[in-house]
Amino acid sequence: MATKEYNWEFVADSVEQLGFGKYDIVQAEIGERTICIARFKNQLYGFQSKCPHAGAKMVMGYIDAQGNAVCPLHRFKFALRNGYNVTGEGYNMKTFPIELREDGVFVGFLKL
Ligand code: FES
Repeated sequence: MATKEYNWEFVADSVEQLGFGKYDIVQAEIGERTICIARFKNQLYGFQSKCPHAGAKMVMGYIDAQGNAVCPLHRFKFALRNGYNVTGEGYNMKTFPIELREDGVFVGFLKL
């Protein structure tokens, strides 16, 4: 199986700088892209900022106890680790790996 190759982009100097509130989801601007970053059990997960169903802002949702991002509009749920639509409606979410490095937080976008 081919390994995935990523372009790594800088997001923030530190996790603190991401500015998590009590809901553990933030939005981040990277160039012209906007993504969401969630914190769950001390891991960071990147995913698309708009719900794949009807475009609601995922930053307005929350992370449930199983590690799913829950859309604020119709409550579809998506696994943080792979974007799978665990409530079964068939709308999978794009995810992006997040790396914590000595020089900051980075997100990986798949090379085309
Ligand atoms: S817009 Fe997200 S579930 Fe409908």
